[in-house]
Amino acid sequence: MTDSSKTATLTIDGKKYELPMLSPSVGPEVIDIRKLYAEAGVFTYDPGYTSTASCDSTITYIDGDEGVLLHRGYPIDQLASKSHYLEVCYLLLYGELPTAKELEVFETTITRHTMIHEQMHNFFRGFRRDAHPMATMVGVVGAMSAFYADSADVSDPRQREIASHRMIAKMPTIAAMAYKYSIGQPFVYPRNDLDYAANFLHMCFSVPAEDFVVDPILARAMDRIFTLHADHEQNASTSTVRLASSSGANPFACVAAGIACLWGPAHGGANQACLEMLKEIGAVDRIPEFIARAKDKNDPFRLMGFGHRVYKNFDPRATVMKQSADEVLDLLGIENNPVLQVAKELEKQALEDPYFAEKKLFPNVDFYSGIILEAMGFPTSMFTPIFALSRTVGWISQWKEQFSDPAHKIGRPRQLYLGATMRSYVDVEDR
Ligand code: SDX
Repeated sequence: MTDSSKTATLTIDGKKYELPMLSPSVGPEVIDIRKLYAEAGVFTYDPGYTSTASCDSTITYIDGDEGVLLHRGYPIDQLASKSHYLEVCYLLLYGELPTAKELEVFETTITRHTMIHEQMHNFFRGFRRDAHPMATMVGVVGAMSAFYADSADVSDPRQREIASHRMIAKMPTIAAMAYKYSIGQPFVYPRNDLDYAANFLHMCFSVPAEDFVVDPILARAMDRIFTLHADHEQNASTSTVRLASSSGANPFACVAAGIACLWGPAHGGANQACLEMLKEIGAVDRIPEFIARAKDKNDPFRLMGFGHRVYKNFDPRATVMKQSADEVLDLLGIENNPVLQVAKELEKQALEDPYFAEKKLFPNVDFYSGIILEAMGFPTSMFTPIFALSRTVGWISQWKEQFSDPAHKIGRPRQLYLGATMRSYVDVEDR
């Protein structure tokens, strides 16, 4: 963040206030309003944070108009095709692509942290079998500080690093256990001879009764889905993690807060809601009916997987996901998948409709991901847990970054108060 020579002038009741401007390495400049209330006695007002930068960061940059997503400067399409998830984790955590030796050490470290404390298995048994796996993940991750107290002191950089590795390593194990519990199958332990994505598929789909070999094509597709969801600047769940962390809460509690926020259908829950919507549409000839409902202001229905707060052009992740959907379904021999046909025709018709063009609504990361995940054998209830698993490295990287600013303080927004002004208590007999 560099001070710009420019200032912004604000005039209130004839009095002028000069506000400094700060320059980014790329993207919009910002007006530094940190001293505004002290100097002018006014707040700014931005309930959805549509024009507000909550922090400075060096991790991820999004250009919503150009459909650009960079992780530490590297475009997402290059990372999705040339890198793999644990290398992207290293990049997000440490800022640079690792050397071969650095990558080997990092992957070995993560691999050796994938098991969870055996006593944590009891947590799962406290849930109903039909509990949504996201409910289980919020509960189990929140409880991790009770088992990993030796990496919960956020003032200790080494403990912060160990907690980071533990979160990235154990999230697939917890997600897979939540899935196994929901279908009444025994938990499957992680294996150190499998890579990160293959290990997750093995923990989800193998059973003790027979050998299970992970399809390398599915493992590659899984790994790419993890990469495409890894981080995304200051989205709602990442902002939740940052705000929780600003009070000094331990990293496991902060990530549990992020999981809870991601669950909502306007955010990470959209991948589940999108596939359920595509199935409700069911056939190409019903698409116009649903497009009409999405445009009807009196109908709360929205096209799930469409639209984005930042992307007012295509979501580059959706482009990669769409290619991957074609590849995976072809490789699985799932010809003419009706849901994929509906999705492609819905995208075509929506993008030709002036309503969506005017409001700049395009498919987002959640539009095609569910089609791949279902083809891989996951129920819709596992779509958001997989998003949470993937996003853990983003939450943790952004959480870690906060400690690099010694001046960082507790986040405490103000408000525009519209309630009753001061008045005296009235006894009940006088009301
Ligand atoms: C994710 O922030 C991130 O980075 C999130 C994410 C990440 O990686 O972390 O990218 C992941 O959450 C992707 C988004 C997943 N959500 C969905 O697919 C749910 C459907 N989409 C919408 O609910 C909506 O588009 C949001 C929530 C994603 C964005 O909402 P905004 O930016 O607050 O936009 P808005 O609600 O103000 O909508 C602007 C206009 C409105 O019409 P008007 O009031 O101006 O007349 O567009 C309309 C909306 O009604 N609109 C839609 C629509 N999305 C917006 N109309 C129909 N269908 C939709 N999907």
